[in-house]
Amino acid sequence: MKVLVTGGAGYIGTSVVPLLLERGYDVTVFDCLMFGGTQILPFFRNPNFHFVKGDIRDKAALEAVVKGKNIIIHLAAIVGFPACRENPALAYSTNVEGTQNLADVITKDQYVLFGSTGSNYGSLVDAICTEDTPLNPLSIYGKTKTEAERILMATGQATAYRFATAFGLSPRLRLDLLVNDLTYQGLKQKYMVIYEADFMRTFIHVYDIARSFLFAIDNRSKMQGHVYNVGNESMNFSKRHICDLIASKTGAYVHYADVGEDQDKRNYTVSYEKIRNVGFETTLTIEDGVDELIQALEVVKVHNPHANA
Ligand SMILES: NC(=O)c1ccc[n+]([C@@H]2O[C@H](COP(=O)([O-])OP(=O)(O)OC[C@H]3O[C@@H](n4cnc5c(N)ncnc54)[C@H](O)[C@@H]3O)[C@@H](O)[C@H]2O)c1
Repeated sequence: MKVLVTGGAGYIGTSVVPLLLERGYDVTVFDCLMFGGTQILPFFRNPNFHFVKGDIRDKAALEAVVKGKNIIIHLAAIVGFPACRENPALAYSTNVEGTQNLADVITKDQYVLFGSTGSNYGSLVDAICTEDTPLNPLSIYGKTKTEAERILMATGQATAYRFATAFGLSPRLRLDLLVNDLTYQGLKQKYMVIYEADFMRTFIHVYDIARSFLFAIDNRSKMQGHVYNVGNESMNFSKRHICDLIASKTGAYVHYADVGEDQDKRNYTVSYEKIRNVGFETTLTIEDGVDELIQALEVVKVHNPHANA
């Protein structure tokens, strides 16, 4: 089995690649290394690992690397509303045009797994969000990811995963994600500042995201052509609940103040019935993630461009 992972040097990619290699798959990562490359160094020891430095906006380069692969896991993107707001033109050309390039170069037998997002839903108060809920993306991030999902689903060769917000450790650690960010704040600053405290959010450990891609590979015949919310109802929580959990473990003081705003207006309770019905369950809880983050961040100095202090 030959697998291509675009954006494979990122937070999710570096969690997926080891699982693919463990299975003995031939794995190629195609990534422009926006965040450097030290996180992928251990993979080079494996003779089944290949790396091509490149940009998904370069259609010829993408076509060359897509050729001959059975599965393409498409993760390369400008991720999150702050990064997209900073450079909307780059967000559009990467998230939409880069994905269109992929749709243009795949051949009939290839299967694409797309890392989509719950940000596609926008604001949805007092409703349970299923895959049939109309999409109403509010930020540039949500809009470009929604368009990318539409492009790939139109090929009939894709499965799109609308992930909950990820948390937990990964070789490329993201500290802008809510649980990771608050744990860092609680541990390092001993206080957390929290806005929109009663907004409901939904979460998934990055390891379970990685597992979900293996699950899609194993269940292609059932899943190709379908969109799934990926997460677990037991991890639909208010931001206040997350803060209280982290405060209880770090002794941090929580300051509730509406000093910010989520541009995706994510405030929703999500149903994961569809993916559960094909047999996928998550395995790790928020508490598992907070505990591992505390253990690691207590001893490992991690550069955090998002820190207040
Ligand atoms: N982490 C989450 O909570 C989450 C939730 C839902 C969906 N997603 C989606 O999953 C995917 C991966 O997210 P992540 O958290 O790993 O983000 P990330 O920013 O850590 O990784 C993105 C990777 O893509 C690469 N990249 C960016 N532009 C590129 C380009 N033009 N050509 C080639 N490579 C490029 C970057 O170098 C980086 O390695 C994204 O598509 C994101 O929208 C993430």
